[in-house]
Amino acid sequence: MKENITPYKHSVTVKERRLLNKHNSFLVWFTGLSGSGKSTISNIVEQELSKQGIRTYLLDGDNVRNGINCNLTFSHEDRTENIRRVSEISKLMIDAGILVVGAFVSPYEEDRENIKKIVGEDNFIEVFVNTSLEECERRDVKGLYKKAREGEIKNFTGISAPYENPINPDIEIKTENETIYGAAKRIIEFIKPKLKLQ
Ligand code: PPS
Repeated sequence: MKENITPYKHSVTVKERRLLNKHNSFLVWFTGLSGSGKSTISNIVEQELSKQGIRTYLLDGDNVRNGINCNLTFSHEDRTENIRRVSEISKLMIDAGILVVGAFVSPYEEDRENIKKIVGEDNFIEVFVNTSLEECERRDVKGLYKKAREGEIKNFTGISAPYENPINPDIEIKTENETIYGAAKRIIEFIKPKLKLQ
């Protein structure tokens, strides 16, 4: 599909945009089961960094699937396409000098590896929100687990579709043992030094 396409090299560089923003730009990626706490924790992280003057943008599964990815289902193939598109969007935002936060179930290791390839290994931080299936199902904030158990939702992660645990995440959060604010603080402490321009 890339035939006859010649990317144009623009004059304003990512380095210049980062200098204007006075901080580095990269992607902080939250992965975990539905209801694990990804949206809640990533929202606190974004809010706190934004208060500190960091230019941020949070991309969230439910929101992205409501707009640009509204034509995608939860089949393996469509989840892969969902994550690929979000990775490409993140790449543009990183180029724009923004600290991007992504919160997606992203259950497949291969898809998460692909994010790294698209945005570049140095621009990728993986946060595994490791809340057990039992706990997510007990919380069932959106009532989706009940529907999935009753067969009303097909391909539901953890019930009728797989979740492959990250092999070597940068940060692992166990919401059963730690508060959401404690988790957010730990993540911010990890991110902050990487935001400094060299
Ligand atoms: S994925 O796997 O990365 O493409 O999923 P994502 O784009 O993050 O979307 C997850 C949200 O969609 C809702 N939902 C489902 N999740 C998992 N499996 C199935 N079948 C499904 N159907 C709907 C659910 O609200 C997820 O939001 P979170 O915030 O993760 O609970």
